[in-house]
Amino acid sequence: MRRFHEIDTGMAGFRLWPGGLSTPEQAGLVEQVTAVLETAPLYRPVTPGGRPFSVRMSNLGPLGWVSDRGGYRYQATHPETGAAWPPMPERLIDLWGDLTGWPEPPDACLVNLYRGEARMGLHQDRDEADLTAPVLSISLGDTAVFRVAPAEGVRGRAVKLASGDICALTGPARLARHGIDRILAGSSGLIPGGGRINLTLRRAGPGTGASGS
Ligand code: SIN
Ligand code: FE2
Repeated sequence: MRRFHEIDTGMAGFRLWPGGLSTPEQAGLVEQVTAVLETAPLYRPVTPGGRPFSVRMSNLGPLGWVSDRGGYRYQATHPETGAAWPPMPERLIDLWGDLTGWPEPPDACLVNLYRGEARMGLHQDRDEADLTAPVLSISLGDTAVFRVAPAEGVRGRAVKLASGDICALTGPARLARHGIDRILAGSSGLIPGGGRINLTLRRAGPGTGASGS
């Protein structure tokens, strides 16, 4: 497993690999993800309460995270096209293995595009079958102010995530509250059209192996 920095957030397990991806690796990933998104277009989901997200989303891999009036869930198809999500690039599956050491591959990659005033409110990731499997997050493009808090009602800590930075929620921090306060627009020129792409790799479905189920 590649070495990481453990960031003090009030709970153990928030790991950061600053500059985890080189500039050419970032560019390659953006190109690859942009190409596959042609068959799974970014769209703007709504919350269960009916409010549109400011972030645009899509997914790669067998399962994708969606939100609509029916709630939050994982499903195998794009809500607008009805087609299966495109496959996850091998590069992402390898990164997951190298960085998390988790014995099973990720089965979901959420793609978030932040432009302008887009942000993400504080929340926990808890729609996955196994809440002990790590969450791995890759930042591309404009720097984000990521907020991570150990409990409700606690402001927590802001951590800047620049292009190429990778972080993980593991162990006790797996259920940390987290969100994106804002994007520092124009801080990177990596994304065509500007903004930030975040790739969140998860193990969404039930495990199949010894440690996953
Ligand atoms: C998320 O929590 O779903 C996204 C976090 C990020 O954009 O870095
Ligand atoms: Fe999240």
